[in-house]
Amino acid sequence: MPLQTTQLIWHNGQMIPWESANIHVMSHVVHYGSSVFEGIRCYAQSSPGSGVAQAGIFRLPEHMQRFRDSGHIYRMPLGFNQQELCQAVVDVVEANGVAPCYIRPVAFRGYGEIGINPLSSPVEVYVANFPWGKYIPSNEGANVCVSSWNRHAPNTMPTMSKAGGNYLNAQLIRMEAAINGYDEGIALDVNGLISEGSGENLFLVRGSVLYTTPLSSAVLNGITRTSILTLAKDLGIPVVEQALPREMLYVSDECFFTGTAAEVTHLRSVDRILIGDGTMGPITKALHDEFFGIVNGTRPDRHQWLTPVKVSAQQPELVAG
Ligand SMILES: Cc1ncc(COP(=O)(O)O)c(C=O)c1O
Repeated sequence: MPLQTTQLIWHNGQMIPWESANIHVMSHVVHYGSSVFEGIRCYAQSSPGSGVAQAGIFRLPEHMQRFRDSGHIYRMPLGFNQQELCQAVVDVVEANGVAPCYIRPVAFRGYGEIGINPLSSPVEVYVANFPWGKYIPSNEGANVCVSSWNRHAPNTMPTMSKAGGNYLNAQLIRMEAAINGYDEGIALDVNGLISEGSGENLFLVRGSVLYTTPLSSAVLNGITRTSILTLAKDLGIPVVEQALPREMLYVSDECFFTGTAAEVTHLRSVDRILIGDGTMGPITKALHDEFFGIVNGTRPDRHQWLTPVKVSAQQPELVAG
């Protein structure tokens, strides 16, 4: 899906035109995948007729903390502190005046060194935002497969870092799924236990218990995942975080993905085995409705997850990702 552009991108403390945010082909990142990034959603909580739409960025401090952690793991100082990075995101969203939107902070090793050691290449930081609709469009639930590709073994690619290079593995999973007619793929870890989707964390329900895989199963420490764990606690849903065998997928009553892009998306089938009756089950629905109620402003933001931004009332036509 082609990107719908906005006007301005934040680069190392300055707003620059979208068209000017270019890099040299000999930049370190192009050759070695040396980038870290974030994906954040800004939701609109519109009040009709008010002229100014209310909008809020979902869990901005947590995303910026993970952005800095991702860089820290790779010895990549971003050059901006937590508060400056949060402000950069607010500034670019307000400058472009587009909400709802998807926000993409990215930092990478730029033009300087072409050997593998990146330490003398400059670090460039950008924040862009643009309108983006549903990542997994199916309202009937996603039909997914277990990928033939495994996630990274421990002590190979750090999965707690949201690094560009990790997404080569994710691309293999996603392409294989698409070519075989599935909406998404689920990867197993190096031990053959469930890890996560190519860009989503995974939850299962069996009986009245909610299960998800732990950080030691090569998953990204998803911010939607932690939000769902919090909401489950609020709703009194028992949660078990543990390594899970593949077959738990097939015998679960409900399965769903979480992620900034996928939000809360229920799975209709895994490897063409129907999950429950294929529709969104009651525990998924309770968590889904709570999540969307908070981000869309119909339920109180009781955990202060939204950072308010001022945007114009003009709302973009959303395209699917
Ligand atoms: C590999 C992977 N797992 C999980 C997630 C979900 O994380 P979050 O909820 O923070 O977007 C993402 C998306 O960022 C991802 O790329």
